[in-house]
Amino acid sequence: MKPALAVLGSLNMDFVVQVHSLPAPGQTVLGSNFLMLPGGKGANQACACGRTGEGAVSVRMAGRVGYDIFADQLKASLAAAGVDVSAVYSTRSQPTGVALIWVDSRGQNSIVVASGANHAIAASEAGNYRNCFRATSHSLFQLETPLDAVAAAVKVARDEGSTIILDPAPAQPLPRDLLQLVDILTPNESEACVLLGKEPARVSFAEARELARQLLAQTGVSSVAMKLGDQGCLWVDGARELPVEGFRVDSVDTTAAGDTFNGALAVALAEGKPLPEALRFANAAAALSVTKLGAQASIPSRAEVLQFLT
Ligand code: RIB
Repeated sequence: MKPALAVLGSLNMDFVVQVHSLPAPGQTVLGSNFLMLPGGKGANQACACGRTGEGAVSVRMAGRVGYDIFADQLKASLAAAGVDVSAVYSTRSQPTGVALIWVDSRGQNSIVVASGANHAIAASEAGNYRNCFRATSHSLFQLETPLDAVAAAVKVARDEGSTIILDPAPAQPLPRDLLQLVDILTPNESEACVLLGKEPARVSFAEARELARQLLAQTGVSSVAMKLGDQGCLWVDGARELPVEGFRVDSVDTTAAGDTFNGALAVALAEGKPLPEALRFANAAAALSVTKLGAQASIPSRAEVLQFLT
């Protein structure tokens, strides 16, 4: 039987505008090329699992959408990537989540999310997702759904024997009793800073290593896979430190690069790839995602990742 992965998280319709430079506060800039594309950190990670795990893993998504046209489009996008969306429930109380995204000429972005139905997931309903987590090797979480619901769902997934991967994005301080349940924490450097109570910052590789060590020592997580963009990533656990080089590519849009990393990493670990190989696979998938515009629109297939690595 194929290993199974579960993702609980957000689904958003992304409204993307390309601009020369990101607007400063109070500034109006003229953009070009408006696109509506499927996104949301949870859905992006599920899509990345589906595409990069095609034929090798099965993937289930749990989340909330509204009763509107975006809901159908977002579920269809995931279904096309091979993701089981039967645990994506609809709510009448909120519209489907949306994100407003500006992407500049260097591929950097600014994102504002209107969470809508994503915030209708309640901690008291975590048990409804038990079937989704049952017999999974890994379960993936992020922070675009209410924190108490994430924490409750993490407990259910652990109870089902799943390895917990938490992407602490968007950045926010997290309680230790949640972090202690996390097997693999996947922050970027600024999310790591926030978790440690520091000002978010770009850091050198040496500083990133120090942040990862502090996260391991202070938060109770079992391991840290720190995402460092084109510098690659750094794995730190109680036994080892493993820096893995990134790939330099022409950056069109970095949206969902981190989500792609998480999904591909879960796939590779679920398949039983050795850790260095799994991290390299995840780095490659993330690098490829940066070369195209959009979130799910940019996530590569398994064949594309394997070809890139040859
Ligand atoms: O991580 C990228 C995602 O963040 C976008 O797709 C957007 O929906 C926001 O949730």
